[in-house]
Amino acid sequence: MDLYEYQAKELFAGHGVPVLPGEVAETSDQARAAAERFGRTVVVKAQVKTGGRGKAGGVKLAETPDEAKARADAILGMDIKGHTVHRVLVTPASDIAEEYYFSFLLDRANRTFLAMASAEGGVDIEQLAVERPEALAKVPVDPLLGVDTAKAREIVAAARFPDAVADEAAEVIVKLWDTFVGEDATLVEVNPLVRDPDDRVIALDGKVTLDDNASFRHAEHAALVDKQAEDPLEAAAKEKDLNYVKLDGQVGIIGNGAGLVMSTLDVVAYAGEEFGVRPANFLDIGGGASAEVMANGLEIILSDPDVRSVFVNVFGGITACDAVANGIVQAFRLLESRGDTVNRPIVVRLDGNNATEGRRILTEAALPGLQQVDTMDNAARVAAQLAAQGE
Ligand SMILES: Nc1ncnc2c1ncn2[C@@H]1O[C@H](COP(=O)(O)OP(=O)(O)O)[C@@H](O)[C@H]1O
Ligand SMILES: [Mg+2]
Repeated sequence: MDLYEYQAKELFAGHGVPVLPGEVAETSDQARAAAERFGRTVVVKAQVKTGGRGKAGGVKLAETPDEAKARADAILGMDIKGHTVHRVLVTPASDIAEEYYFSFLLDRANRTFLAMASAEGGVDIEQLAVERPEALAKVPVDPLLGVDTAKAREIVAAARFPDAVADEAAEVIVKLWDTFVGEDATLVEVNPLVRDPDDRVIALDGKVTLDDNASFRHAEHAALVDKQAEDPLEAAAKEKDLNYVKLDGQVGIIGNGAGLVMSTLDVVAYAGEEFGVRPANFLDIGGGASAEVMANGLEIILSDPDVRSVFVNVFGGITACDAVANGIVQAFRLLESRGDTVNRPIVVRLDGNNATEGRRILTEAALPGLQQVDTMDNAARVAAQLAAQGE
């Protein structure tokens, strides 16, 4: 999960990283009131989960509360790289002597952590990495040893931060490491990390990606989820522990195993070209494929009003096709008992372990609107055609 700047800086503050105070505003009047409370020149900053807000005009100085209101009016609703601005952060303007770059990240290729730092921050770091790679220090961090003051000094030296801020920068870097490890992040980035005229080092921007695999040990992170921005179907699926991603097509898709579902999306997209339809979602029900999981999956997919047909693509492995077929039959009953009848055509392709028995079970059950097709390509075609007819 990516965090907003204001959330990232709240986590920083919790680990002792120096940040400026800030107030989040959803309306320009709120922004005005916040600026009034600060009683000094402020910066109004678009809160969107993408970088380059400054360049896009989403970060503006405001000398008076009225100006803060006007800036917020201009920024709220703005589109920055496809992200609509619903909130701004109002924060005191900082005097900036220098801007540095700093990040900790997961270096997947080398199976370790990496610190990246540069005395030339504030700018587009990707550009710096390409044009002047020597100006961007990359220091591997042993996950077992972590970052103590000595390691932080090594990073500061490699990045060529000026001597006047070396001690303080090292201290901040140790705290950023505490944030990175303590919050189970895969990215902590500060651009710019600034030096103010008094040689204080402050995180002026913040980008944090939390590792969702560790969410079970961070109950407090649930509060960071942006419910407003979340797709309601995806939120409902998450509540049922389903691996679901909403897409914008018309053919609902259920499969077992992420790889199979990915290739199902491909064949449906291909078959759908002729009919002008596309996959409506990704849904992997995993290995077990119990009746309940199947029913939950169908329920989520059928509650998407764009869905015109559903393709259930199952390859029987450890969970054999007969078990899956029974799961589908029971899922229909379960849905009916919940008052949700299956009111759109379902195309099922069963193959693999015990396919013959699975197909027999489905044929015998004669579920309304359900038809079986033997191959994946043909089933995709039928599902696409049904979706086109259903419009
Ligand atoms: N509180 C602040 N005071 C003064 N300048 C700021 C402040 N916050 C941001 N800036 C300036 O705006 C630039 C862009 O802001 P930043 O938060 O880094 O957004 P982004 O990286 O999305 O462009 C910074 O590099 C800095 O020069
Ligand atoms: Mg930045």
